[in-house]
Amino acid sequence: PHAPTKLLRGRTVSFLRRPMGAGDEGALEVHEDGGLLIENGLITAAGGYAEVAAKAPEGTPVTDHRPHLILPGFIDTHLHFPQAQVIASWADQLLDWLNDHTFPAEQRFADKAHGARIASTFYDTLIAHGTTTAVAYCSSHPNSVEAYFEEAERRGMRMLGGKTMMDRNAPAALCDTAQSAYDDSRALLEKWHGRGRALYVITPRFAITSTPEQLEAAGTLLREFPDCHLQTHINENLNEISYTLELYPQDADYLAIYERYGLLGRKTLLGHCIHMNGRELSVMRETGSVAVFCPTSNLFLGSGLFDKARMDSAGVRSAIATDIGGGTSYSMLRTLDEGYKVLQLQRQRLHPYETFYWATRGNAESLSLADRIGTLEPGTEADIIILNPAATREMALRAETARSLADELFILQTLGDDRAVMETYVAGVGMKGE
Ligand code: GUN
Ligand code: ZN
Repeated sequence: PHAPTKLLRGRTVSFLRRPMGAGDEGALEVHEDGGLLIENGLITAAGGYAEVAAKAPEGTPVTDHRPHLILPGFIDTHLHFPQAQVIASWADQLLDWLNDHTFPAEQRFADKAHGARIASTFYDTLIAHGTTTAVAYCSSHPNSVEAYFEEAERRGMRMLGGKTMMDRNAPAALCDTAQSAYDDSRALLEKWHGRGRALYVITPRFAITSTPEQLEAAGTLLREFPDCHLQTHINENLNEISYTLELYPQDADYLAIYERYGLLGRKTLLGHCIHMNGRELSVMRETGSVAVFCPTSNLFLGSGLFDKARMDSAGVRSAIATDIGGGTSYSMLRTLDEGYKVLQLQRQRLHPYETFYWATRGNAESLSLADRIGTLEPGTEADIIILNPAATREMALRAETARSLADELFILQTLGDDRAVMETYVAGVGMKGE
C-alpha cells in the first residue's frame, strides 16, 4: 500500500555529484522555493515549486515546510542492530569492549521476542534522527535478522543487513560454524534479498572471529550471489591487528586475508580502515572496496584517526557511518560533526557541502544505490527529511547570523541532532508527524 500522492514545499537541497571543496555550487541543486511531487512512494517531479505544482494532479495536498530545508534522508553505512544496549558502555579498547559488553549483549538475540522489541525502538530512533537507510550487522542468530527485516518491512524502509558470521574466539552461544553460517546466511539471503526494499549483506564479523573455512564460505556465498553486499571490519585497533596477523601468519597484512578469500569488490564495505598500509590502499582502489569511516566509534574506543585525504589521493572510495554501539550517536549530524573534528586534527577541513554530500548521495554511491536513494531526483524513492537550522535556542541564536546555505548546513552539523529533524518521510510517508 503506497502513500497517497502529495506535494512538499520548502527549501530543497540535493547533490548532483561530489562537491570539490568550498564554493563548488555546481555540485548542488538548490531551490529556495522548491517542490517535490510524491506518487507511489517515489519522487516524480522536483524543482521550483510553481513548476512542480503545475505537474501535480488536481487537488493534490500540499505540505508546506518553509522555511525549513528539504534534503534526502540520511544513510548510515555501518552500525550494529544488536548493540542498541551496548552504546555508552564504559570499557577499554576494542577487544575488551567486545568481550566485556558486546558479546554478552548479542547473546540475548537468540530470543526472537528480544530482537523484535529492540527492532521497534531501533527503527523509531533511526527515524527520529532522519536516517532512512542503514546497513546493519545483526547478531549471529537468524532470529535477529528476521526481527530486523520484519520491522523494516512494516515501516517500508530500505534497509540492508545480514547475519553476523562468527565461529571462533567468542562465547559458544554466539558461535556458528563455517557450514551453519553458510546455510543460515544463504537461507536468509534467499528469503530477504530484494523482498520489498530489503537487501541482504553477507557479514563475516572480522578475521579474528572467523576460521579460514568460514571466510572461504563467505567468499563462496559472495560468488554465488554477486549482487549482494559484503561487510566486515579491518584495521581498527592495533591489538586487533597484531592478533589477526598471528591467526593468519601466511598473510602479509590484514587486507591480504580478505583478498585471499575473494571478499573484496565494489559491494564490499570495510569498517574503520584506520591503520592501512600503502599496499592495502592500492588493493582497495583496484577492487573498488569501500572504506567506512566511523568517527564517534573511533574516538570512543580510542582506535585512531581515519585519514580521508589519504583515501582520496589513493583513489579509495569512502563512506561515513555511526557504528552504533561502538559509536555514540545515532545522529548523522553528530557523526558529521565528529568526523569533521577527526579530520581537523589532521589539517583536513571538509566544507559543509562535502559533509552533507557524504551523508546522502555519497553514501548512496558507496552502496551503488544512488539511482534509488540519496538524492531528490525524479524516479528515486521518496526518503526525505526536513531540517530546521534554528531548531534549538542556541541554534536559532547562531542562525540569526547565517549568511548562506553553507552556514546553515554547518550550524546543523555542529549543533544539530534529532531536534533539528522536523519530519522524516519513508517512501513518501511522514513517520514523525503524520
Ligand atoms: N570488530 C569486530 N566486531 C566489531 C564490533 O562489533 N564493533 C566494532 N567497532 N569493531 C568490531
Ligand atoms: Zn562495526
